[in-house]
Amino acid sequence: MQGKLIVFEGVEGCGKTTQLELLFNWLQSSLVLQKLKAASLVADVKKTRQPGGTELGVHLRQILLQPQNQYQVQPAAELLLYAADRAQHVEQLIRPWLEAGYLVLCDRFTDSTLAYQGYGRGLDLALIEQLNQIATSGLKSDLTLWLKLDAKVGLERTHERGLADRIEQADLSFHRRVQQGFAALAQNNTHTIKPIAADRTQAAIAQQIQSILQASLSQWYPLPLPP
Ligand SMILES: Nc1ncnc2c1ncn2[C@@H]1O[C@H](COP(=O)(O)OP(=O)(O)O)[C@@H](O)[C@H]1O
Ligand SMILES: [Mg+2]
Repeated sequence: MQGKLIVFEGVEGCGKTTQLELLFNWLQSSLVLQKLKAASLVADVKKTRQPGGTELGVHLRQILLQPQNQYQVQPAAELLLYAADRAQHVEQLIRPWLEAGYLVLCDRFTDSTLAYQGYGRGLDLALIEQLNQIATSGLKSDLTLWLKLDAKVGLERTHERGLADRIEQADLSFHRRVQQGFAALAQNNTHTIKPIAADRTQAAIAQQIQSILQASLSQWYPLPLPP
């Protein structure tokens, strides 16, 4: 069995966590997953996130996102801490899950580092690509769902959520560069990155994501025709 990695990307407050949960719940009760499991093509579904998917990652996430910025995290250090989280996460969980045949839903992955530390902080994109390669040992997402939302609207949504984390606190121009980064990445990777308009109701977005998944699953796992 070979699983697939499905990634949610986008600016703060675009709805990644909301839609990941909705897709997880939908998949678990969907007929298509039941059939794939019965045919031994897929083991089940897992959900996880970056940073913070592993026990080490929980500590790194706390350092990276705590609002006070008590460590005065510098851009290059920030880049390497995200990479450390990813390396641990890929080797400890994601790769073993994929090898065991799980569909893995992941909140953020390598494109976030290109968008935030590359386009946002201005670090060298080619170096980040290399670092992503080291952190993932070449493992790539099979499908990336990019929730496309104006950076300002996303930030306003997160403000309703309460205290802003260290990254959310960065100024609007930073978040606009991040958004431009995701747009550039989507333009250059039309086969794996699916842009989804995120300025709609949660239900409308969820429905579009479900149809994308249906199509991807039938491409990845051609089910034998019933006799
Ligand atoms: N389609 C939507 N329309 C309006 N508000 C939304 C929508 N999706 C999510 N939200 C709300 O916006 C906030 C951020 O959503 P969240 O899923 O946490 O975003 P992210 O994980 O991308 O930062 C939450 O309070 C959530 O309830
Ligand atoms: Mg989230």
